[in-house]
Amino acid sequence: MSDVPRILLIGSDGQVGWELRRTLAPVGHVIPASMAGTAGPAIDLLDASSVRRVFNETAPDVVVNAAAYTAVDKAESEPELAQAINADAVHVLAELAAGADVPVLHYSTDFVFSGRTDRPYREDDAPEPMSVYGKTKLAGELALLDSDADALVLRTAWVYGVRGRNFLLTMLNLFRERNELRIVDDQVGTPTWSRMLAEVTAQVLHAVLTGAVDIKQVKGLYHVTSSGAVSWFGFADAIREGSCHNCEIKPIPTSEYPAPARRPAYSVLDTTKFRTTFGLTLPDWRQSLAMCIEDLPAQR
Ligand SMILES: NC(=O)c1ccc[n+]([C@@H]2O[C@H](COP(=O)([O-])OP(=O)(O)OC[C@H]3O[C@@H](n4cnc5c(N)ncnc54)[C@H](OP(=O)(O)O)[C@@H]3O)[C@@H](O)[C@H]2O)c1
Repeated sequence: MSDVPRILLIGSDGQVGWELRRTLAPVGHVIPASMAGTAGPAIDLLDASSVRRVFNETAPDVVVNAAAYTAVDKAESEPELAQAINADAVHVLAELAAGADVPVLHYSTDFVFSGRTDRPYREDDAPEPMSVYGKTKLAGELALLDSDADALVLRTAWVYGVRGRNFLLTMLNLFRERNELRIVDDQVGTPTWSRMLAEVTAQVLHAVLTGAVDIKQVKGLYHVTSSGAVSWFGFADAIREGSCHNCEIKPIPTSEYPAPARRPAYSVLDTTKFRTTFGLTLPDWRQSLAMCIEDLPAQR
């Protein structure tokens, strides 16, 4: 390995990828690869030769894949595209990483579960995705976990932040435009700040790259979210309170907000395995939300 580890960050323009460019900077030399190729190599996960070329030309010591097809509803009408990006490309990455003996860190989602449970999901609970997005993300997980690559797959949930397309920014825009909103109150999960996810990712990678943990021992699947749980309605209400808007919010059932993709009614993830393996805990979702709101530009 080089003196300063070379970190190939795929998807560096996404909401998690953008935060990773910052949090990974002290851990190694970050090579930010994105579709546009603005800050580093251009990469297109739809094109296996582009993935191979970027991997071979950048000769990474570790790969972080934060790119994905994340348009949950659109995926229902574009299943081939979602499969190609979320599963087939990850399969190519797994082969490259296994061949070069390079660890890979990848993200997955709470949407691999059906939500038919009354306790937080553990890593060994059987997945049962109900949407194209969930199915293709599960296939991506398996492409890595069933390969010979030293892979860490972090399942996370309800990601928001100061950048990108996410529930926090959508709500803040709607609060300015509307006097009343109706928000689903029968889907429960854990909002997770992209910054916190990027922070713990950096700490995990640092531990792997310095040998503080042995990747051969710790590789596998982990649940990583903030602590606590709330419905979309509760999350919206907390955003309204924290951002001092006075738009009225009414709770509604999912049946009154039909969407192309089915979503789990309850997808809280049990993060015990991550906490005990790496000694890292993300704060309660309310605490993270308050910090994220403090970070927003003033006009929000
Ligand atoms: N957002 C959530 O609520 C959530 C919840 C659970 C898990 N996750 C997982 O967390 C990870 C990060 O998600 P995120 O919220 O940061 O997603 P995001 O903001 O949508 O970013 C995804 C990135 O992937 C890039 N991408 C899409 N297609 C590509 C392709 N063909 N080739 C190269 N890059 C491509 C996108 O580029 P463009 O911007 O140019 O399209 C975008 O920069 C993903 O694995 C996601 O499945 C997210």
